[in-house]
Amino acid sequence: MVNFLILVIVSLSLASLSLANIHTNICRSYCGNLTIDYPFALQYGCGHPGFRDLLFCMNNVLMFHISSGSYRVLDIDYAYKALTLHDPHMSTCNAIVLGGKGNGFAVEPWRAPYMTPDADNVFMLIGCSARSPLFQGFPSKHLPCRNISGMGCEEYHGCPAWDMLGHASLGSMFGSGPLDCCALSFESIKAINLSKLECEGYSSAYSLAPLRVDGPNEWSYGIRVKYSVQGNDEFCRACEATGGTCGYGTDGIRQLCMCGSSNSTSNCESIKLSVSSSIRISSMANTFAGFLMCLVVLVTFNRQ
Ligand SMILES: *[C@@H]1O[C@H](CO)[C@@H](O)[C@H](O)[C@H]1NC(C)=O
Ligand SMILES: *[C@@H]1O[C@H](CO)[C@@H](O)[C@H](O)[C@H]1NC(C)=O
Ligand SMILES: *[C@@H]1O[C@H](CO)[C@@H](O)[C@H](O)[C@H]1NC(C)=O
Ligand SMILES: *[C@@H]1O[C@H](CO)[C@@H](O)[C@H](O)[C@H]1NC(C)=O
Repeated sequence: MVNFLILVIVSLSLASLSLANIHTNICRSYCGNLTIDYPFALQYGCGHPGFRDLLFCMNNVLMFHISSGSYRVLDIDYAYKALTLHDPHMSTCNAIVLGGKGNGFAVEPWRAPYMTPDADNVFMLIGCSARSPLFQGFPSKHLPCRNISGMGCEEYHGCPAWDMLGHASLGSMFGSGPLDCCALSFESIKAINLSKLECEGYSSAYSLAPLRVDGPNEWSYGIRVKYSVQGNDEFCRACEATGGTCGYGTDGIRQLCMCGSSNSTSNCESIKLSVSSSIRISSMANTFAGFLMCLVVLVTFNRQ
C-alpha cells in the first residue's frame, strides 16, 4: 500500500514539474557577453514595440541601428535604464576623425520618446562651418556651446589628439573658438547631424554621476543613451508576474503577453482562467499530492 502511494506521489510530482517548465522567457537572449532582455530583443515580436528593429547581433557583436547609423553596444545597464554606444568614426582623446564620417546621433521621430542621450552626456562638435545652424540666430555671447557636467571643449583641447592634428589643424583653419569645437547637450539641439550642422567631426563623452573624473584623458568616450517605455511598464510587469513573456503583435504597435501556447492582450492569468482546464487540474493534483504526502508521513509514524 505504501509503495503504491509513493509511486503515485512520484508520478504526480513529475507531472507538475513539467507543467511548471512551460513558463520560460522565450525572448531573453545573449550577444557576446551582453544579455538582451525587455524592453530589448533580437527577435521581431519580442520586447517592447518602441525598441523593435533596433538591435542586431553579428558575430557576437551587438549593433544598435537608428536613422543616423549603426553603433556598437558596449553595455546595457538595466538598473539605470541606459545603453552605452560606440561609433568608430567618433573622435576621442587619442584621435580626431574629420571628414564628416561620424554618425552623430539622430533617431526616427516615432522612436524619439523611447530614447535620448543622457543629460550628463556631452557632444563636442568639431570644425563646424561659420554658416552652421549652430551659430545662426544667436547674439555672439549666447552661443549654445557650454560645459556639460564639467566636460567641455576647453579641457578637450588638452587631449593629445589635438597636438597630432599638426599645422593643417582646425586651430589654424578656424582659430580656437566655437567653430573649432563646440560642446553641447543633446537636449539643446535634439539631433546631432554632422551634415546638417556642417561640422567635420564630433566627440561624445559621459560621466557616471556622482563620479567626477579629472581631465579629458579620464572621460568615458561613447554615447550614453537613456531609454524608457514611457511609463508603460505595468503591462509587462503583470505579464511576467503571471509567467508570461512580453512582446507585441505583428502590427508592431500593440503589446502582447506570450503565454506558452497562446497570446494574451493582458496577462496569462486571464488565459489560465478561461482556457486551460489542465492547469486547474494540475493544481488540484498538487493539492492531492500534498495530501497523500501527509498521509504517507502519518502512516510511517504510526508504524514506528
Ligand atoms: C564583455 O566583453 C568585452 C570584450 O568583448 C569586455 O571589454 C567587457 O568588459 C565584457 N563585459 C563584461 C561585463 O564582462
Ligand atoms: C504570439 O505572438 C508572437 C509575437 O507576435 C508570435 O510570433 C506568435 O506566433 C504568437 N503565438 C500565437 C499562438 O498566436
Ligand atoms: C541629416 O541632415 C541631412 C541634410 O539636412 C539630411 O539629408 C539627412 O536625412 C539627415 N539625417 C538624419 C539621420 O536625420
Ligand atoms: C568650462 O570649464 C573650463 C574648465 O573647467 C572653464 O575654464 C570654462 O570657463 C568653462 N566654460 C564654461 C562655458 O562654463
